[in-house]
Amino acid sequence: MKTVSFTLLWLFMSILTSNLARAENRAPEYTRLMQNAETTPLCKIEGGTRKQILASYLLNLRKDYNLSIGYPGPPMNLAYVQREGALAFASPQNVSRIIDEISHFNINNAGDPFDTSGNFTSHSKYFEQSILRYAAELYHLGQGTYWGYVLSGSTEGILFGLFQGRELLKKRYPGEANNIRVMSSSDSHYAIRKSAHILGVEFSGVKSQKNGEIDYADVEHQLSELKERGALGPVIMNANIGTTMKGAIDSAQKLAQILGKYLPNDKYYIHADGAYYGAWLPLISPEKYGHVFKYAQSMNISGHKTFGTAAITGILLTTKSSHDELMRDGRANAHVQYIGSRDTTMMSSRDGRNAVLLWESIRLHGADGFKKIALNALADAAWLKKQLLQFVPSEHVTLNDDSIIVHIQYPDLKQIKNQNKRTKLQAEQKLIARKYQLAESDEAMHIMCRAMVTRKTLNQFLHDYRSFMDDYKSSQPLGQKATPIALQLPQPGP
Ligand SMILES: Cc1ncc(COP(=O)(O)O)c(C=O)c1O
Repeated sequence: MKTVSFTLLWLFMSILTSNLARAENRAPEYTRLMQNAETTPLCKIEGGTRKQILASYLLNLRKDYNLSIGYPGPPMNLAYVQREGALAFASPQNVSRIIDEISHFNINNAGDPFDTSGNFTSHSKYFEQSILRYAAELYHLGQGTYWGYVLSGSTEGILFGLFQGRELLKKRYPGEANNIRVMSSSDSHYAIRKSAHILGVEFSGVKSQKNGEIDYADVEHQLSELKERGALGPVIMNANIGTTMKGAIDSAQKLAQILGKYLPNDKYYIHADGAYYGAWLPLISPEKYGHVFKYAQSMNISGHKTFGTAAITGILLTTKSSHDELMRDGRANAHVQYIGSRDTTMMSSRDGRNAVLLWESIRLHGADGFKKIALNALADAAWLKKQLLQFVPSEHVTLNDDSIIVHIQYPDLKQIKNQNKRTKLQAEQKLIARKYQLAESDEAMHIMCRAMVTRKTLNQFLHDYRSFMDDYKSSQPLGQKATPIALQLPQPGP
């Protein structure tokens, strides 16, 4: 068996090396093409050859990456990106090349990541198992106490977590199957409400505190009110481990304590949305954040955020006991002959390249590397907040503990009586948001101090935002003279 595997590996490496040699021969043409590529807008896909269009697209992607400090946008710490040089390849050249070549293969991880018994061997389930072991260790889940799989993104993990919750609660309380509800704060990602809708489960929005953390008093208020009316059924609670806009962290422990006052332990289920910080917080403070699975049963973590994979992906992690309980019903545990594996995941075919990318990122940085990246990002966020406070009112800047998201409330432009000035300020605000690809909500935006966001870019943003704020202040009746705003469209990078 060992000899067969070795021969296959040797064959694979030979093919790979010859492909690499061919890729090297293409280099001069590639260089010429990239030098001549136009900087067309990302969406322009006409008026050129296939190669020219793709080269222009690549050039524009590079250019836009350099200035992006918001989300949606480039990942937190793209595995190959050096901290002080966006898009400089930090990984040894040959590793980047091998990853590049692997990405040309169609790798299908259909079925259970731990079931490799089928005939189909071109999967990457061993990478997947290794990733899950890494994530489980962060949360003190030992061998045999966890299950999970690599996702197509956090939304799939949320959908899976809520689905598992619904199924378990339905099995335990069949008479109340129609009275299961999902509860989550108003600062939660829209995927929570969407998943509840897909699953046909009622959704109860809970108020948030000003910092974006769930309002525990409102959770209690809603539960007690439902109980009083005799309408309290099983509850699936979502705990955010980093909210989308403010990076706020809900305490799964506090939520479990509140739920426990109104419901028996087996009548509620906690899913943790760890899209942002699920893989970071236990590294920063294992005692404070490493015990989520004492209270929660499942968690999703984004691959393209924390681990910085170029592909959109993620990890679903759940306790083995919850998984086994779900699988006790024969249908969910069915062995599918066609794929030679148990059907335990949400999707059928799954892109096995994601597991390779995630694994490579974990192997490249390791827990210590990720911790360093996290601490640097936290320092950048604290620095950015300090700079902002020189010209933005403190009540308009939010930075939560252990968070790298700086949330900035825009000034209230409706206060500007002069219509022309108001329109000009609105345009400036929009330009800044576009230039830095900022995510916005309710007259606010956020900056994510990811690893690849440099102080240089932050300084550039600060300069632009200060000019805008100066303009705003001078547009008020008692304002001072404005510094002229100097917004320029970004120039193409190398
Ligand atoms: C907190 C949170 N949860 C879930 C998601 C959804 O992740 P994805 O877009 O990868 O499905 C996001 C995306 O930004 C998020 O911020």
